[in-house]
Amino acid sequence: MNDHTNQEAQHGEKPVKRREMSRRQFLSYTLGGAGAFMGAGMIIPMIRFAVDPVLKPKTQAAWVKVVEESKITDEPKSFKFKVHQVDGWYESDPELEAWISKGKDGKIFALNPTCKHLGCTVNWNANPEYKDQYFCPCHGAHYTSDGKNLAVAPAPLDQYELKIENGFVYLGQLGPNKRV
Ligand code: FES
Repeated sequence: MNDHTNQEAQHGEKPVKRREMSRRQFLSYTLGGAGAFMGAGMIIPMIRFAVDPVLKPKTQAAWVKVVEESKITDEPKSFKFKVHQVDGWYESDPELEAWISKGKDGKIFALNPTCKHLGCTVNWNANPEYKDQYFCPCHGAHYTSDGKNLAVAPAPLDQYELKIENGFVYLGQLGPNKRV
């Protein structure tokens, strides 16, 4: 018995065998890999199809017909209207409100009644102390007829895009107030 064999016998270890891949293993790895690749090719488009609308930004109809132009005066009036929104797979028609009036410059404009302080709803001429102003009942913010913030609120009321077509007022996206 040589030294090497003696050492094995002493430590009770078996000789190290080199592991070689059998033909069966090679085939199952290769076919498994190809199957996974083809499966991914089918599943990824399906996942994209399912998830894609969710990743798209919310869209809203561009213009909404709200009221006849002839009904608008210097005195702001509240009008409710619905917009069609698509948010991923979810479609909805939330109701919005606009206070529409004719300014001293003769132009018709529409304000959003969401108070710029903490989001309560303002009303026109709602407090006798603040005549001919928008007033917020939550913390007392008030605004001019153009939506300019006079107290409490840090910014003017937002303004809708507006166009007149065939005698009707159409409202579009909401944005910052451009009158003050
Ligand atoms: S939310 Fe309007 S004053 Fe505070």
